[in-house]
Amino acid sequence: MAGRTAVVTGAARGIGLAIARELHARGARVALGDLDASEVERAAADLSPTGESALGAAVDVRDRAQLAALVALAEERWDVLEILVNNAAITSGQPFAEITAEDWDDVLAVNLRGAFFGCQIAAERMRGSGYGRIINLASNAGQAPSVHVGAHYAASKAGMIALTKRVALELAGDGVTVNAIAPAFISGPIMDGFDEDLLEGLRHQVPLRRFGEPREVADLAAFLAGPEAGFVTGATYDINGGLLLR
Ligand SMILES: NC(=O)c1ccc[n+]([C@@H]2O[C@H](COP(=O)([O-])OP(=O)(O)OC[C@H]3O[C@@H](n4cnc5c(N)ncnc54)[C@H](O)[C@@H]3O)[C@@H](O)[C@H]2O)c1
Repeated sequence: MAGRTAVVTGAARGIGLAIARELHARGARVALGDLDASEVERAAADLSPTGESALGAAVDVRDRAQLAALVALAEERWDVLEILVNNAAITSGQPFAEITAEDWDDVLAVNLRGAFFGCQIAAERMRGSGYGRIINLASNAGQAPSVHVGAHYAASKAGMIALTKRVALELAGDGVTVNAIAPAFISGPIMDGFDEDLLEGLRHQVPLRRFGEPREVADLAAFLAGPEAGFVTGATYDINGGLLLR
């Protein structure tokens, strides 16, 4: 991975931050984008105080121009884009009947349309460049029903898996791989505010009897971003402690 250039969205915290850190630790130059500008700039400065191998910038993935600007920033500094991780998402547990049209559009715009824009922007750069890796963060909720998240979130993540397969097929001839990761129950800020009884009940649903760590998802993403995964495309990798066996 040494010298490769990566862009990771939603990288201010949680899984996105862990992926950015792992790619950076393996030698990649990483552009971290997030809606939370101050946190993402701080995260990038932690990785590379001089900015030589990491940069952080505000991005709203709902806006194609902002996403393209983040990629352009990475290219200005490091010339190429070789790895894109579409990780930014919002999670909502609203009951189906309470989801408004605005809620629906908002979740789909961040979680699915943002990744669609990311795939298009990355494909323009990666086609013909000799190396391309796109990694989309889906979810177990896109594969199997979950009572913990809303129908809009589940639909966006099922869409992410379909998008991954379709784009993988289209870009395969150009040597660009496109894969999805489908996590469940990864610890992080998403669980802040859950009381211990609820957390214990959730842990009990996982066959491995614990939550996953963002670092474990990051290792999987780094594998998919690396040269060893060159023959893997259109796949969805489950990382869920045995919650869904298929
Ligand atoms: N944590 C889990 O257990 C779990 C399970 C299944 C899937 N996932 C998926 O993994 C990914 C990361 O999850 P997480 O738990 O780290 O989430 P998180 O909520 O901790 O982090 C998401 C990040 O995305 C950013 N973001 C939100 N909207 C944005 C926008 N419009 N533009 C740019 N950035 C935006 C947020 O500011 C935040 O930093 C998501 O795609 C999520 O759906 C997580």
